Amino acid sequence: MACEWYKGMSFYQIWIRSFKDGNDDGIGDLYGVYDKLDYIKSLGVDGIWFSPIYPSPNADFGYDISDYKNIHPEYGDLDQFKKVLDKAHAIGLKVIMDLVINHTSDEHPWFIESKKSKDNPYSDYYIWRDGKKGKLPNNWDSMFEGKAWEYMPERDQYYLHLFAKKQPDLNMDNPKVRDEVKSIMRFWLDMGVDGFREDVITFISKADGLPNGLPFIPVANGMPYYKDGPRIHEYLGEFREVCNEYDCFLLGEGPMTTTRSALRYMEGENRTLDIMFNFDHMMADCFLTEYIHRPFNLVKLKKAYSKWQKELNGRAWNTLYIENHDHPRVISRYGNEKFHRESGTMLAASFIFQQGTPFIYQGQEIGMTNIRLDSIDKYVDVSSKTNYHRFHTREAIEKRLERIYHSSRDSARTPVQWDDSWHAGFSAVEPWFYVNDNYPEINVKVEEDDPLSILNFYRKCLEYRKNSDVILWGNYREFFRKDPLLYEYERSYKGKKVLVICSFSEHRMPLLIPKEYKDLHGKLVLCNYASHDKKVLKPYETRVYELK
Ligand code: NOJ
Repeated sequence: MACEWYKGMSFYQIWIRSFKDGNDDGIGDLYGVYDKLDYIKSLGVDGIWFSPIYPSPNADFGYDISDYKNIHPEYGDLDQFKKVLDKAHAIGLKVIMDLVINHTSDEHPWFIESKKSKDNPYSDYYIWRDGKKGKLPNNWDSMFEGKAWEYMPERDQYYLHLFAKKQPDLNMDNPKVRDEVKSIMRFWLDMGVDGFREDVITFISKADGLPNGLPFIPVANGMPYYKDGPRIHEYLGEFREVCNEYDCFLLGEGPMTTTRSALRYMEGENRTLDIMFNFDHMMADCFLTEYIHRPFNLVKLKKAYSKWQKELNGRAWNTLYIENHDHPRVISRYGNEKFHRESGTMLAASFIFQQGTPFIYQGQEIGMTNIRLDSIDKYVDVSSKTNYHRFHTREAIEKRLERIYHSSRDSARTPVQWDDSWHAGFSAVEPWFYVNDNYPEINVKVEEDDPLSILNFYRKCLEYRKNSDVILWGNYREFFRKDPLLYEYERSYKGKKVLVICSFSEHRMPLLIPKEYKDLHGKLVLCNYASHDKKVLKPYETRVYELK
């Protein structure tokens, strides 16, 4: 029987390094998480997703794992993790872990052995190829650092890395590697975790022969040969079987996935993934990647939302998110820093009331915004650095830094702003990364005390969602599709209806109501202003009506 419990839930994502420092070394950790579990619970979420907390050299901040069955010493140890897990369960929070199995760190013992020779027990754990007449084995790009191949003199061969050089891809065609994955899953499931978020899981099966890609799209050359690869469903089926021994939930990340290919994973009783993260709605202010910035386009955003809502309806279940550790802060993108509270609250209502399981990223609930640093050397994210040094190199430095401001993953990774004390209450000592200067105004403490704050609005939204059958299970319908400033959608279930109205304008504008609701006879259940006008929406106003 496939797992179903995640459907009514919502999750909070922790990127631990910047969440809360509990032992005063400037780095977030499991002691800090333990102390903040009641706060997380108070938001009204039902579970936590931990981005990787395993030992890692941090070339990609945890997504380069060097030991899958342990905790990074900077974050605590297995005992401390168990304490967090037990307390989370005791207060009714599920816990899911990140499972990063497309690649390991190059400092993982498997790789250290594998690179030594062609005939050691680990030699076939990774994807090794000979060069072709002095050239790379094929023309694939990596996402993070140039071409996808790196030469190792010890073997006189190249290894494949679809991400950074320090992230060699595992050879999933090797049954021993799949056994390792299953053993890792059992290790954490036996400890009591409730599921996994499987990192770039649609990339783990590579096409036989690793054919050359057509060089149309920079940084993604070769993707047709590893995205949704030939044995992906077989391998995920094996992992699902392990999961089925427990009451476990599987969430897969699907970069550039389409509804069509996502449904192949998520549909039916024998599905290999319960839900998936897609990226379509994260592209409303850019082309392919946030680094290629474009003006925000609401129609594009609405199109992406409605496509996924419509095409998954009755067949599979959506994930709902507008922030995570891979994307800059959403107020700085789709909202407006000058209308911080207004746009932050409106953005909450714009996604939480769709059909699916919401994920809230740390700091999103208080409306944290992008950070502006004055030199690329101050950024730490590998992909930001590569983009800066590789593209638009003839442009003025200010312009390139503006591009980084719009796109860097580091903006989502600044320490969480807990209060207005030194270091934003994140740590008693200098934090590992810059705190955003706006922490005296934007922090948990001030927002706790303000009934209209973004924080309290998230709480109201999550509470309302949880108690509304219409929001949990209802059908979705969008109105005024072409309107560039207004997003309105309806949810309907067993004769009941809810209408969600979101203004994306910094000006007042007329309130448009679908014809069938002419006089809007209904109960206003949520609004992000203390008072509202019958005919006009204030800047970034949002309202939720229960309709008769
Ligand atoms: C997706 C993760 O979310 C991202 O942070 C990471 O860099 C890549 N996968 C590679 O693991």
